[in-house]
Amino acid sequence: MTDQYDAIILGAGGAGLMCAAIAGQRGKRVLVIDHAEAAGKKILISGGGRCNFTNIHTAPDRYLSANKHFMKSALGRYTAADFIALVEQYGIAYHEKALGQLFCDGSARQIVAMLLEECAKGRAEIALGDAITDIAHADAQYRVTFGARTASAPALIIATGGPSIPKMGATGFAYDLARKFGMKVVEPRPALVPLTLGGDETLFRDLSGVSADVIARCGKTAFREAALFTHRGLSGPAILQISSYWRHGQPIGIDFLPSNSADWLVEAKRLKPRATLRSTLASALPDRLAETLSERLALPGDLASQTDKALQAATQRLAAWQFHPNGTEGLAKAEVTLGGISTAELSSQTMESRTSPGLFAIGEAVDVTGWLGGYNFQWAWSSGWAAGQAL
Ligand code: FDA
Repeated sequence: MTDQYDAIILGAGGAGLMCAAIAGQRGKRVLVIDHAEAAGKKILISGGGRCNFTNIHTAPDRYLSANKHFMKSALGRYTAADFIALVEQYGIAYHEKALGQLFCDGSARQIVAMLLEECAKGRAEIALGDAITDIAHADAQYRVTFGARTASAPALIIATGGPSIPKMGATGFAYDLARKFGMKVVEPRPALVPLTLGGDETLFRDLSGVSADVIARCGKTAFREAALFTHRGLSGPAILQISSYWRHGQPIGIDFLPSNSADWLVEAKRLKPRATLRSTLASALPDRLAETLSERLALPGDLASQTDKALQAATQRLAAWQFHPNGTEGLAKAEVTLGGISTAELSSQTMESRTSPGLFAIGEAVDVTGWLGGYNFQWAWSSGWAAGQAL
């Protein structure tokens, strides 16, 4: 027997649950199917268990996509303020950690519980723990077979996310399904991901665990946040952010002294001529990092024995230290996946396919990727809301 619904949503992550809640509360009969045993697993592990659920500075320029205008409509109609209002309605306490990033004071479980409660208000049915074995389309109906059941609806919403962190149940299912219905997929690649160093630069791996406030640059893009040296290369928020803009073969520029002037070392020489480069750097940077950088700058002796020109050149190098990553830590460590279902295939108002009526795609499955800091969940909420309104 086939169960009939108004809409079938594949994926009970942030985007799928939001879409189900909105459509259900608008009176639609909704089924959500997820192969995981629990809904919202990525929400639960996000933000170190406290879920960075949105960013008060959400704006289209904080997203990467082949079409930089695509996200404007959904983000403009369901805003960070709308999601904050929902969180407040549920009495969930939260705080701004840094740079507009909002986290739960308590636990990410509160966000999942809130979304499930919103789904319950809309009488959305959530089927967990069964693999989807077949999807067919005929007579304006999408038929989904999962476990021992078959369900049918005139609308099918792809909300199965991207393939980052496969051990959490993430798959490339959304892309396979989109291709099956003739939709283009923009090449997926890991984003918000640590970078690896090789060659000469493996020496920096000895600094594993050391972090510093830096500006990380790639091309014209720059982020000022913490960078962290790891046993494989570079991580920390500044590096995760810049990784989304990095392509194989490009160098990454690191400004280790973002608060210091270009004449900093020359002034230091006047004030403390007997100080060494290493001790001077250690006044601004962690000790081990100061040691490694001063070894590489190779200016032995005290500052007084250096020319102003040599000190200025050293400052310049410290402000634009070039690293040449040889790769990333891949999808296993990537917080999100860049690329995905091409926005050219979708209406930015409704998220519905332009060529397959009734087929929608939302959340990370779509070629829209946010910066680190709550932007990706905001896209999940906004795109889920937009589709939920259109069903
Ligand atoms: P999501 O991946 O959440 O959900 C997809 C659902 O589809 C899953 O429940 C999955 O089980 C299901 N599914 C997949 N394949 C399937 C198949 N074949 N059959 C059936 N079901 C299938 N973002 C942010 O804004 N703030 C943060 O704090 C963090 N923190 C964070 C930490 C970590 C460790 C990761 C990995 C990611 C984050 N993110 C984040 C990113 C954020 O988690 C991500 O952008 C959203 O969860 C995307 O929501 P979706 O609903 O689109 O996909």
